[in-house]
Amino acid sequence: MTILVTGGAGFIGSNFVLDWLAENNEAVINVDKLTYAGNLQNLEGVMASNRHVFARVDIGDGAAIADLLTTHRPRAILNFAAESHVDRSIHGPAAFIETNVVGTFRLLEAARKYWSELEETERQQFRFLHVSTDEVYGSLSATDEPFRETNRYEPNSPYSASKASSDHLVRAYHHTYGLPVLTTNCSNNYGPYHFPEKLIPLCIHNALAGKPLPIYGDGQQIRDWLYVKDHCSAIRRVLEQGRLGETYNVGGWNEKANLDVVKTLCAILDELSPRKDGASYSSQITFVKDRPGHDRRYAIDARKIEQELGWKPAETFESGIRKTVEWYLSHQEWVSNVTSGAYQSWVGQQYGA
Ligand code: NAD
Ligand code: DAU
Repeated sequence: MTILVTGGAGFIGSNFVLDWLAENNEAVINVDKLTYAGNLQNLEGVMASNRHVFARVDIGDGAAIADLLTTHRPRAILNFAAESHVDRSIHGPAAFIETNVVGTFRLLEAARKYWSELEETERQQFRFLHVSTDEVYGSLSATDEPFRETNRYEPNSPYSASKASSDHLVRAYHHTYGLPVLTTNCSNNYGPYHFPEKLIPLCIHNALAGKPLPIYGDGQQIRDWLYVKDHCSAIRRVLEQGRLGETYNVGGWNEKANLDVVKTLCAILDELSPRKDGASYSSQITFVKDRPGHDRRYAIDARKIEQELGWKPAETFESGIRKTVEWYLSHQEWVSNVTSGAYQSWVGQQYGA
């Protein structure tokens, strides 16, 4: 048995592939275009495994995807591949439309053809699982209830609009063609292999480098944080037990204001890797210009996946964030490899000198 994962060299995808191969015997076909966010170093531990096949392919290349499907005959496709950074979507939305909308469409087309030609039993068992985000629901006020699966889609950034479009395509392929789809909408992830353009790894990296920790606006925007390995366990659960055509919100009930998250990081770093001058890393916190259209608050109501599928996260925010800081401290070589070259020009473009 085999599954096909797209975007498996990125942050969440590589964590998923590593956990999958560690936890069961089934092979993984790992399809990734290797954009700036894809990194084969994340997969070093499994590159030699005969249960892991890596293919550098764009999900928008229908012919190449069709070849992989007929060669490896996976029982499921899990679509993690995407352009994922909101700030980049503000600077350059085209790549987000290309991969997240057109790419997902091409992948769905290839999946539909492959699935429709399977024998009856295989056709019954096949699954297309689409990995999406809570950002499709838009922004909450301080007093709104957390996002439920029934909330209206109100995406506010080019990134979230492109993910919302892809969710709608996935839904339509189920309703129109009967493709056996599942969709997960998860809150903010953090953990190992998180690219240091995102808040948590960026601040750990900048803190250790003696650079400013940039807080957009007043830092009171709220995100709902989930340790990446808990997101991966939720995806495995939905793949095996999710009801076809359903969407599942995934989150760990961990709402935090950005400023508090960064202060927590600083306190852990003060303890584990104190600054030579004895000052706290929090003295590096710097308020900068806000993100245009910045969503104020995200929060996930995870009762559906908890009650229907019995899923619960293993980490609290406190245990997960400590593990994450420890991981970055012990993987400084990984950080320095990903923060050279193109990374420098992104930081220059986004934060100036
Ligand atoms: P990421 O940017 O770290 O990784 C994306 C991966 O997709 C990279 O390896 C990249 O090379 C690959 N990719 C990009 N375009 C491709 C294409 N056209 N064809 C094939 N591969 C391509 O992203 P991530 O944070 O790991 O997110 C993975 C998925 O989870 C995305 O769909 C994202 O929308 C969703 N998601 C992310 C979060 C989060 O907090 N990071 C939360 C909820 C949902
Ligand atoms: O909610 C799920 C989403 O979470 C995913 O769909 C996205 O792929 C993922 O990137 C993430 O989006 P966010 O925009 O919430 O994540 P980011 O780490 O970029 O920012 C987290 C918060 O921190 C957000 O309110 C913006 C703020 N921020 C971010 C950066 C990079 C800062 O204050 N300063 C920064 O330098």
